[in-house]
Amino acid sequence: MESITLGRAETEHGEVVLRQRGEIIELVVNGVFAMDSVDATSEHALADAAGDPPRRVLVGGLGLGFTTARLLDRGATKVRVVELAEPLIAWAQAGLTDQLRRISADPRVELVVGDIADELSTGSPRWDAILLDVDNGPSFLIHDHNQQVYAEPLLARALALLNPGGALVIWCETASPDLEVTLRRLATDVAAIRVPVSREGREFEYALYRVTAPIQRG
Ligand SMILES: C[S@@+](CC[C@H](N)C(=O)[O-])C[C@H]1O[C@@H](n2cnc3c(N)ncnc32)[C@H](O)[C@@H]1O
Repeated sequence: MESITLGRAETEHGEVVLRQRGEIIELVVNGVFAMDSVDATSEHALADAAGDPPRRVLVGGLGLGFTTARLLDRGATKVRVVELAEPLIAWAQAGLTDQLRRISADPRVELVVGDIADELSTGSPRWDAILLDVDNGPSFLIHDHNQQVYAEPLLARALALLNPGGALVIWCETASPDLEVTLRRLATDVAAIRVPVSREGREFEYALYRVTAPIQRG
């Protein structure tokens, strides 16, 4: 099926392309297939792991906006989305897809151009959940410098930004034992959540790692 380019732009972090193939929207970042709209089960599961209701949430990676839209549907009071690709935020504001338009118009959403690593390093504590989905997972990075996102110092920093009982949740394209070991060094309450997804007749199992911040800090 022929694809239509909805947006294409060069950035200092590589090219960003938003395209449509029939009903399907695809996002390619820095030459890496980041995602499409075929099955958003895992992006929704990421939002669902933020708590019930989700309340104040920091999201790393706008993508096609499935996680953010789900947070809004589930009653989040505030969603700050940090996205490295500036054109993607501009395209959201221009309404290039219905979902991105809707997110951008919602007063509970703050769309910020930036690196989630910088946000975690410099932000102040105040979140009920932090959701990280900036790659295809720690073993399939969109940008090499995102390695730091899965390393202990930044994960510790993310946990320190959470309110007591808050959740840090990380999307992975497959189980990531190394990441789980790192997280278990930082917290006792770590859950590995498997998300089965079916795509074009093939079965996949994505993984989410959910860490709960201690109610009482030691
Ligand atoms: C897989 S998509 C996110 C999917 C999103 N959860 C959804 O529901 O559509 C990854 C996004 O993270 C962005 N990204 C990559 N590295 C980043 C970083 N270091 N900081 C912020 N955003 C980043 C990419 O540009 C891309 O938009």
